[in-house]
Amino acid sequence: MKVKKKLFGGFWILLLVVILAACSGDSEADGNDKESDDSDSNSDEQVTLTYARGVDTTGATEVLAEAFEKEHPNIKIEFQEMPSDSGEQHDQYVTAFSAKSAEIDVFDADVIWPAEFAQADYALDLDRFIEADDIDMDAYFEGTVKAGNFKGKQWAMPKFTDAGVLFYRTDIVDDPPETWDELIEQADELKGEKDTEFGYLMQASQYEGLITNAVEYIGAYGGAVLDEDENVVVDSPETVKAIEKMQEIVGSDFVPSNILNFTEIETESAFIEGNAVFARNWPYLQASSNDEDKSKVAGNVGFTTLPAGDDGSASALGGWMSMINRYSEHPEEAWEFVKFMTGPEGQKITAVDGGSAPTLVDLYDDEEVQDAGVTFSEPDFVEVLENAIPRPVSPIYPEISDIMQIELSKALTGDITAEEAAGNMQTKIEDAMED
Ligand code: GLC
Repeated sequence: MKVKKKLFGGFWILLLVVILAACSGDSEADGNDKESDDSDSNSDEQVTLTYARGVDTTGATEVLAEAFEKEHPNIKIEFQEMPSDSGEQHDQYVTAFSAKSAEIDVFDADVIWPAEFAQADYALDLDRFIEADDIDMDAYFEGTVKAGNFKGKQWAMPKFTDAGVLFYRTDIVDDPPETWDELIEQADELKGEKDTEFGYLMQASQYEGLITNAVEYIGAYGGAVLDEDENVVVDSPETVKAIEKMQEIVGSDFVPSNILNFTEIETESAFIEGNAVFARNWPYLQASSNDEDKSKVAGNVGFTTLPAGDDGSASALGGWMSMINRYSEHPEEAWEFVKFMTGPEGQKITAVDGGSAPTLVDLYDDEEVQDAGVTFSEPDFVEVLENAIPRPVSPIYPEISDIMQIELSKALTGDITAEEAAGNMQTKIEDAMED
């Protein structure tokens, strides 16, 4: 596999893409039609696919691409590394795909994107491939399949699923906390043990990860953003209490003073450096924190469900899916790679080398997968995944997310109160949904 670290989205690249697209006279009508004149993946013709995904700190992407290339000697994978921030990645894809760029063939999509990308005509509908290869979609967790389905068609294949979990140092913590108040107590008390600097780490920067953290507090205290009928219900005493709990934690002295700049990346590095007692993150942290080559806490890491509020414990549903650019010049080969990554062999690599949770139910019974991570051998973990709370499901999700990011950040910096944040989110999301 070749790694291409170039980031998409620079002004000059965009300009070039726009000019090329204009010169080539691309019309709405091509795209899907391009597949017909494409080469057969079984032929000997050499094809290089550009595969884009966010920064992978685990090294699993390389293993995945090499395993695929071995089975498909005529297809080479060139990796295009995208930013780790889901929102930044999203914007770069939108820039490239709206200019009809064929540069990226295959890309990983956050679970919150497929409907939007399908609607915007950025992606290839995968139904004909799924049918031809007889892929059993019932073998996947239902929620992950649904996330890739829009208007009755499958646009994305589930690659791995995510749910927020609480990691802790087993050499410091005896009884992990069951409630957010207990977490606050223990983080405060245990900070400093074994040279730790911080009691707790979370993702509080103004970006998509803040929404996943907030959804967890809101869910734990019995609130919601939208109800089942898509009414906005975020302005509630439950949400106010949840935001107040976030404010209490972010304002405490057991979190880093720059916690408002923390994403998964900062969380991971502080935790594996041995600087923190507890950390909220996605399952992949089990892989890097137990990797002796890079983690100072390997062997001393446990996980448990996130603490409960008044209404129990809640994890946000995350995860990534694989999609094909509608303008890819190699859709058949692209499908081969998507099929491999999201099939049993590829998902096993993502679980074993990457620490991420499979979307194929049967893989949880696989011994190698079970041995690979602290989470996979725990029956409770599958329950956490199944009960994880999706972010608001709406065609205007990016707008809802932006509104929430702004209002929650203002509440966390103390510019507005929790009540004001809940009230503002309510009216602004309602307005956005009416437009
Ligand atoms: C993880 C999740 C993804 C989420 C992101 C937020 O990558 O899998 O769904 O949007 O974190 O930072």
